[in-house]
Amino acid sequence: MKTYELIRGSGVESLVLTERPVPVPGPRELLLKLRAVSLNYRDLAILRGTYGDYPRPLVPVSDGVGEVVAVGAEVRRFKVGDRVIPAYVPDWVRGGPTEENSRRRLGGPLDGLLREYACIHEEAAVAAPAHLSDVEAATLPIAGVTAWHALFTAGRVGPGDTVVVQGTGGVSLFALQLARMAGARVLVTSRSPAKLERAVALGAAAGIHTGAEPEWDARVLALTEGRGADHVVDVVGGEGVGRSIGAARVGGTVTLVGFLDSATVRFDLTRALRRVVRLQAVSVGSREDLEALGRALAVRGVRPVVDRTFSFAEAHAAYAYLASGAQFGKVVLTLP
Ligand SMILES: NC(=O)c1ccc[n+]([C@@H]2O[C@H](COP(=O)([O-])OP(=O)(O)OC[C@H]3O[C@@H](n4cnc5c(N)ncnc54)[C@H](OP(=O)(O)O)[C@@H]3O)[C@@H](O)[C@H]2O)c1
Repeated sequence: MKTYELIRGSGVESLVLTERPVPVPGPRELLLKLRAVSLNYRDLAILRGTYGDYPRPLVPVSDGVGEVVAVGAEVRRFKVGDRVIPAYVPDWVRGGPTEENSRRRLGGPLDGLLREYACIHEEAAVAAPAHLSDVEAATLPIAGVTAWHALFTAGRVGPGDTVVVQGTGGVSLFALQLARMAGARVLVTSRSPAKLERAVALGAAAGIHTGAEPEWDARVLALTEGRGADHVVDVVGGEGVGRSIGAARVGGTVTLVGFLDSATVRFDLTRALRRVVRLQAVSVGSREDLEALGRALAVRGVRPVVDRTFSFAEAHAAYAYLASGAQFGKVVLTLP
């Protein structure tokens, strides 16, 4: 089968197309023919060598959807022909994360899904929501589950709350859609006025252009009659976390999700103490979160926002496109 591998180096040239034998499923494994895979910022950071230090060669990419083409003798949960989504953290089935259940992850340290076939343990697979296309279903495991976990498992977002999401990438647009589904009001920040218009069309109450208003926390206060947001989903990290704290209401929550600016965070603690803000780090979620997300999207008929689709042969271009930051939502590759 055709597979991509990350070999030595930290640029797009470290991603090479090669051949490996089609894997043989163990007694409780499913053999999947991958149909679509979706890129996350994590994939870019791993390629650049700025995230994790995983042994190479490594098959990259964590998110995807595939068709079951063979099953091991003891498989009970799925059958040949089913369309399934592999859970990104295969050992984290339900409940909270533990040292043991959160170590193994697809796309590093485990081999990922940028290949034609992969074997997945049946307990680490979820039925793809029927209303979603392959391209849409492939986007759920990291970006969708992280937004779900941030808002509903770790957070307590509900009707009438105000939620702030930063930028218009995968996690943030899922957070926008899910918060709207829960009856919350969503404010979006972005470096692009054109993307803000699209976010408002998607249901955001207002957009804040961070280029024109770098002190965007003040705008959030103005848009909430001085109260502040109930929940801020922070994907930027760095010194901007201080603004997320400033944008939160007294007793509000800032979920620490990403490090697009920097993984080194610096802020004035007295501001957090004065506002009694809860800082909550979130690392994706469990298989149960992925199942709950799929059910919620199905009930409301909501579809993930896919910006652009590339073919399997165009993997280098897809990575370069993600790196450009031009995307509004998810970047997906389809397999033949
Ligand atoms: N903790 C977890 O479990 C978890 C899970 C998923 C992702 N993450 C992290 O969350 C972050 C976002 O991931 P993603 O996959 O959603 O990213 P993505 O799809 O690549 O989207 C990034 C978006 O954020 C904005 N952006 C990019 N660089 C920025 C910067 N320096 N400052 C402000 N805004 C910036 C851009 O939107 P605009 O052009 O609209 O400004 C861009 O489109 C990453 O750091 C990722 O590693 C963490």
